Formats: sequence, structure tokens, C-alpha cells
Amino acid sequence: MSLSVVEQKKKNAAEHAVAQITSGMRVGLGTGSTAKFAVMALGRRIKEEGLKVKGVPTSEATRALAVLHGVPLLSFADADRLDLCIDGADEADPGLNLTKGGGGALLREKVVAFVSERFTCVVDDAKLVDKLHAFPLPIEVVPFAEKVVERELVRLGGEPVLRRNGDAPYLTDNGLWILDCRFPPIDDPPMLARALSSIPGIAEHGLFCGLAHALVVGTESGVRVIER
Ligand code: A5P
Repeated sequence: MSLSVVEQKKKNAAEHAVAQITSGMRVGLGTGSTAKFAVMALGRRIKEEGLKVKGVPTSEATRALAVLHGVPLLSFADADRLDLCIDGADEADPGLNLTKGGGGALLREKVVAFVSERFTCVVDDAKLVDKLHAFPLPIEVVPFAEKVVERELVRLGGEPVLRRNGDAPYLTDNGLWILDCRFPPIDDPPMLARALSSIPGIAEHGLFCGLAHALVVGTESGVRVIER
């Protein structure tokens, strides 16, 4: 099956990151269309090279994909430290601040990135921006507190919209809701991240600051790597 140009860029980035994996590693498996290429490439390396690794999926969708591609899994309860996490992003800035959660998996993705010795983020080159803002920031909320959180987000200059699945609110793997919140270009991502973390009712937000160690940017001809 032939890939579109964008898919090929995602695949280039994902395969470059998967080449860093060595036997014995415990690997966080991201969610989304770029991370999917990483899971597939890892499955191939396990089959062809006999690589011995264990994966921790960041979503139920990735769990199913990993099983399909023969990647052995570890329960997160048994893995409080991981060697490497490979995951995508919706936007990335040159300081390696990320917007994540377009696929709804931000909470588990952040926990898995947090416990990983190294987090390699894989994106196609359209995701690299000067300032995060074009992709509305996903914010996972406890349904009980949704209205309070909405009000506080507006106070911070945001325009939150409840994510829907047909007529019902979209439900995350954690049984929570998501507010997709548009902000003006974000000048200081860590400051906004701290403000969001202080709002009760937000289970997690999709601003990832200080977590990624490397950004692998897929291009038509290969990759460009930005290290922190
Ligand atoms: C999943 O919740 C997200 O954080 C994804 O990592 C992000 O949306 C990137 O997805 P794509 O690789 O599909 O663009």
C-alpha cells in the first residue's frame, strides 16, 4: 500500500526513533497515527531481529495495536520506570514544548513520558511551529467540574469547547471528558502549564513541558533531530 507524503514523514520519524531501541528495554508506546508507525516498526524488529523488549501502551487503542503486531506488554502497575518512550504530538515548538491529546490519550501519555528515562517525540515537519497555538489544547476534566473548569479557562484567555462523540461527550480511556481549548499563541508554555495544573477538576492537560528529550521531525527525505 502506498503512503501519502505526510504518512511517509511520520513513518520516517517513527522508524528513526525505533532504531534507538535495544534488547532489554522497557518502552512506552504512544498513541496516534505517528506512534502507530513506531509500534509497527517495533513489531517488525521483534520478529526479524529477535529483539527482547516490553511495551507499556498509553491507550486501549495502542494496546490492541501492540498485540496485533506481536509487541509483548507489561502492566503499568509493574513498570514505574521505563527506558524510553516514543510518542507523537499535535504541535511542537523549538524548545520541545508539546501540545498533545488530539487522540484523547494525554493523561496516560503524560504519566508514561514522566516515568521514562528518555522521551523521544516523533512528528512530521508540519507540526513544528514557532509558538504553540494552532491546535486547540486538549484538557481532560472530571465531568462533575466541567463548568468550573470552563469558566477558569476563559479567565486564562482560552476558548474551551467540549469534545463530543455524536450527541454525547467524548469519553477518554479514564472515563473522563475533554475540553479542547483554543489559546492565543502561547508565549510561555511552562507558565500556562502551571496555571492549568492549579485548577481543580482538571485531571491533566495536554501541554508537555520539560518532558521530551528529543524531537524527531520527519521530512520527505528523512529526519531532522532536535535535542534538548
Ligand atoms: C494522542 O492523544 C495524542 O497525544 C497524539 O500523540 C497526538 O495527537 C499526535 O497524533 P498524530 O500522530 O495522529 O498526529
